[in-house]
Amino acid sequence: MKKVSAIKQIVRGMPTQDGAGVTLTRIIGQPALPRLDPFLMLDEFGSDKPQDYLAGFPEHPHRGFQTVTYMLAGKMEHKDSVGNTGLIETGGIQWMNAGRGIIHSEMPKQTEGLMRGFQLWVNLPASEKMSQPNYQDIKAAEVPVVDVSDGLEVKVLVGQFHGVSGPVSAQAVKPLFLDCCFSQAQVLSIPCDEQHHFFVYCYEGEIKFADETLKKGQLAVLNPATAIEFSAQAAANCIVVGGLPINEPVVQYGPFVMNTQSEIEQAFVDFRNGQLA
Ligand code: CO
Repeated sequence: MKKVSAIKQIVRGMPTQDGAGVTLTRIIGQPALPRLDPFLMLDEFGSDKPQDYLAGFPEHPHRGFQTVTYMLAGKMEHKDSVGNTGLIETGGIQWMNAGRGIIHSEMPKQTEGLMRGFQLWVNLPASEKMSQPNYQDIKAAEVPVVDVSDGLEVKVLVGQFHGVSGPVSAQAVKPLFLDCCFSQAQVLSIPCDEQHHFFVYCYEGEIKFADETLKKGQLAVLNPATAIEFSAQAAANCIVVGGLPINEPVVQYGPFVMNTQSEIEQAFVDFRNGQLA
């Protein structure tokens, strides 16, 4: 029998800066929602003022988890210690497995205009924290779009929806990442796994759940269920993201996310000795 998810908590992000001084909103990874296993962080960046984004994210290390960048607008260049270089552009997604270690930079490739998107941090289970680093660079044209009904399109970035698979292969927590684009009043139902943790973040307009409205800039943490259902009365956009919780201890220090304090210390030693990546 179908069990429709209810909202457990509604969270608004808090303004902050990261990288070399990029203005952003931290939605997961802040006091109101420190994490949502397996997700460690969700940032939204969005500005048409170059001074808010030009500083970018110069070279920095990661170990023990995955970083995901989904661009809604703009251009960012990625370079890393594995030898990858790529341009993430409007509608594209980059899924990077830091695994045992990677050093990368993400710098704007534009000096004016709107830069908007998300960065999501996905944790790895102990068994994969020291895995081989890798990187998937998916262009907008490679992202399948499901025409659910007149006025409702769903982009499948990761996982499956209506029998369509997203281009990113990320096995560890079996993630689902959908971008739902309403251009008029419609209802959307997304089958989901009751074992997974899900959130919905509304980034344009507003969407309605059974008894609550999610406004632009709000994230809903959902209770376990077998279906996520919501509607829009007018144009609206939201991302729906889910994954299997890892249920392991999390020790995080800046760009390193491990299970124990000594593993964090080892990451610093390896980084100092040039052995992280
Ligand atoms: Co990074």
